[in-house]
Amino acid sequence: MVNLDKYSSIFIANWKLNGNSSFLKDYYEKLKVNSNNCTIICSPSIYLKSLKGNNENLFCGAQDVSSYKEGAYTGELSASMLKDNNIDFCLVGHSERRQYFAETNDNVNIKSSNLIEENIIPVICIGETLEQKEKNLTEEILSTQIKYSVPNLANHQNALIAYEPVWAIGTGLTASPEQAQEMHKFIRQKFTEKFSESISSNLSIIYGGSVKPSSAKNIFNQPDVDGGLIGGASLNANDFSDIINSI
Ligand code: 13P
Repeated sequence: MVNLDKYSSIFIANWKLNGNSSFLKDYYEKLKVNSNNCTIICSPSIYLKSLKGNNENLFCGAQDVSSYKEGAYTGELSASMLKDNNIDFCLVGHSERRQYFAETNDNVNIKSSNLIEENIIPVICIGETLEQKEKNLTEEILSTQIKYSVPNLANHQNALIAYEPVWAIGTGLTASPEQAQEMHKFIRQKFTEKFSESISSNLSIIYGGSVKPSSAKNIFNQPDVDGGLIGGASLNANDFSDIINSI
């Protein structure tokens, strides 16, 4: 398992359903990683083995994994298959999977456990929708997601949490640095309650939602924000490099 303790921040590119072979070649020629930070590229699965360069701080991540371990489940990829292909990280419970593929907290919990058992670090995504935020349900939603999505065997060394307010994803509306800090602090408190102070204080909680090079520094300088999960801006290698190198 990747040793997260040696990094001050963690930055993840989530390419979603984007990219092709020529995009990849150009991307890895331009990408500039930073040895203080752990950088992870979550490409579509078919390109996972195309990661270029020998940088020891640059890793591959999958965007999803099956909740099944093996068997007659057409189209699925298991955690052990990801491990067999040297994949070190995997997004789980992204809001797009919860919204478009009916993924539940229970699914996320099982997938995360399967990944941890294979020494792959799940990046467990949580966040509230605009409607939930407007009804003042943010804390309740985050508490429920933490309670049911995060498996009991998770800790600061084998799992990562990504706070992605759904209203900020792909909308151009970023949480303000103060809003992000407040929610990350709340999430950390919930981890203290569910696990322990030593796990929660060392847990990496990263922020995602319309982060751009211009907004990166102020968000990632917040004390409880340990890095970012970047969608749109990660498709441009120069912009993603600027974000990684913003702190
Ligand atoms: P955007 O950065 O495009 O808002 O996407 C965030 C995201 O969903 C990353 O997983």
